[in-house]
Amino acid sequence: MATVLCIGQAVQDFVFSIDTMPTAAEKYRATNFETLGGGPAATAAVAICKLGGTAQLATRVGDDMLANLIAAELESYGVDCTLVRRMGGRRSSVSAVLVDNAGERMIVNYLDDAMEADPEWLHAYAPLDIAAVLVDTRWPEGALVGLKLATRNNLPAVLDADLPVPEDGDLVRAATHVAFSARGLAEFSGTEDVEAGLRSVHQQVENWCCVTLGADGLLVIEEGRLHHLPAFEVKVSDTLGAGDVWHGAFALALAEGQATSDAVTFASAAAALKVRNGSGRAGCATRGDVEEFLLQQVTESPT
Ligand SMILES: Nc1ncnc2c1ncn2[C@@H]1O[C@H](COP(=O)(O)OP(=O)(O)OP(=O)(O)O)[C@@H](O)[C@H]1O
Ligand SMILES: [Mg+2]
Repeated sequence: MATVLCIGQAVQDFVFSIDTMPTAAEKYRATNFETLGGGPAATAAVAICKLGGTAQLATRVGDDMLANLIAAELESYGVDCTLVRRMGGRRSSVSAVLVDNAGERMIVNYLDDAMEADPEWLHAYAPLDIAAVLVDTRWPEGALVGLKLATRNNLPAVLDADLPVPEDGDLVRAATHVAFSARGLAEFSGTEDVEAGLRSVHQQVENWCCVTLGADGLLVIEEGRLHHLPAFEVKVSDTLGAGDVWHGAFALALAEGQATSDAVTFASAAAALKVRNGSGRAGCATRGDVEEFLLQQVTESPT
């Protein structure tokens, strides 16, 4: 089983369903409530475990009850939490999410600004048996350590370049594979034109680059040429976390030695199944689900 070291954010979401979005500072009654684990690197780690890989998560949490909740849920999926670092006197990341009947979301996120950024401890613990590294942008100092660890060892170094992508470009340059979100690319390249944005980034770096475009699939640039790869068509249940699953599955496939084009197909299938299944992290697909789904696509495609 290939191991992926995932570095970045873990967060706990408290999700309240309400009929209409509040407009005044009053008391409201929720029609439903659930608490879900989130954070790009953490959700990617869960997706990797459900796909049959091994995931180690390096992240910073507080020394509070939320940290227990975050770690317990991740461990229930088999994520190795040895590198989930509890920071003394700090508080874990948390979001209050309001969802109305139309599916609109209002999110209030808390991130402890005083969380220790120095990744020195990560150097000390760096595991030796990993086959790829995946990082998000929520802890740039830790992400840079991970990407450099991967490239030093000739391993895939994958960057989930979702917001906020640090402007200095250090993470983008240090990765072997960069997969931007549409917003991440727009902010980093300074243009809303995805094709122009991807071209301009690719001119500055030599690594593999793509931008994921939700239901529109993705745009990849290879040897200066842009290719559009459509998403798999599925009935949408919930698109939340699709990008995180895509990155987890992509890093796992590269860790297993799959060709980049096959890794893209694998990741797109895993993400499409997450969109179809919904149900938070429990909706992440297994390896068997993805293989069966891909087989169906071949059978159903016109000859
Ligand atoms: N509605 C959808 N139908 C099929 N596949 C989807 C859909 N939405 C997303 N995907 C798949 O997931 C990939 C990543 O999605 P997306 O571009 O929305 O990520 P993102 O912008 O990083 O969002 P987030 O991280 O918030 O999930 C897409 O390239 C596509 O393969
Ligand atoms: Mg994303």
